[in-house]
Amino acid sequence: MHAPYILAPIAGVTDAVFRRICVERGAGFAYTEMVSAKALTYEDARTQELLRRYPGETCGVQLFGSEPDIIARAIGLLPEGFAAIDLNMGCPARKITSNGEGGALMKNPKLAAELIRAAASEASVPVTAKMRLGWDKNEAIDFALALEEAGAAALTVHGRTVSQQYGGKADWEAIAEVKRAVRIPVAANGDALSPEKANALLLHTGCDAVMIARGALGNPWIFEGANALYSGGAIREASQQERLETAKAHLVAACEYYGENRAPLIMRKHLAWYTKGMKNSAAMRVEFNACGTKGEMMRVLASV
Ligand SMILES: Cc1cc2nc3c(=O)[nH]c(=O)nc-3n(C[C@H](O)[C@H](O)[C@H](O)COP(=O)(O)O)c2cc1C
Repeated sequence: MHAPYILAPIAGVTDAVFRRICVERGAGFAYTEMVSAKALTYEDARTQELLRRYPGETCGVQLFGSEPDIIARAIGLLPEGFAAIDLNMGCPARKITSNGEGGALMKNPKLAAELIRAAASEASVPVTAKMRLGWDKNEAIDFALALEEAGAAALTVHGRTVSQQYGGKADWEAIAEVKRAVRIPVAANGDALSPEKANALLLHTGCDAVMIARGALGNPWIFEGANALYSGGAIREASQQERLETAKAHLVAACEYYGENRAPLIMRKHLAWYTKGMKNSAAMRVEFNACGTKGEMMRVLASV
């Protein structure tokens, strides 16, 4: 496993542009958002887009699916160069679980293990899984042992059940129990919303890494801060000026990557996250949502 703080797969967010921003600020590794294995086998254009990387970028790809042969075929069709393949076993969205995919796999450890086996026999890079504690109760240890036995190279454990979705508090002790039960590396996930919490999660669970999702939205400095604490240093707060400069640089990079027609739509949420907590942030969010061009967005950012 890589450096201890990892950018989680986040649908609609962890594209190459945002991954690079986080890695530049200390993320040890990053993943694509979840990609449908089935759609990959149809060579669907939107799916190909989700697999795009910067030339030379090192990252993992996350796939979701529930059929071992389709997972294997999808892996065979992946472009070269992904450093790891993660299987999603935690997504609580009904449109995913109703197909037996994502979090629904927590109800079916035998199938989950078959998916790992099929993926590992096809892949030439490590196959990992991102799981939750269970469907509606904690059965994480048995599930994790089944995946380890099937050949998973590492696991990420989000300390909630699927039925909890994102509510309540992540159970860090339950993650620690999984870490103690398996021999493969484990990344802890859930509620690492600040550098302090990311460090606390690492220490509390004894895990090899911590995966960060919501805490990185509009705040890629969380990785820098977590690394500083980890190595005994102090956190450097990013100034408002630096946040605005990064927001602008993100917008420019997104325009280069997606073209100026598509980028503004993709950037609305990012710009709202970067400016959250600044004066007039609620009004700015409304303005970003009304912007259709890079120039309009730049003008809103310059008005802060
Ligand atoms: C908007 C959103 C999109 C997400 N998309 C994915 C995804 O594509 N794949 C995945 O494994 N988890 C996904 N997650 C879950 C996160 O990776 C993570 O497990 C969860 O948010 C808990 O971590 P956190 O407390 O650091 O946010 C998503 C979460 C959010 C909020």
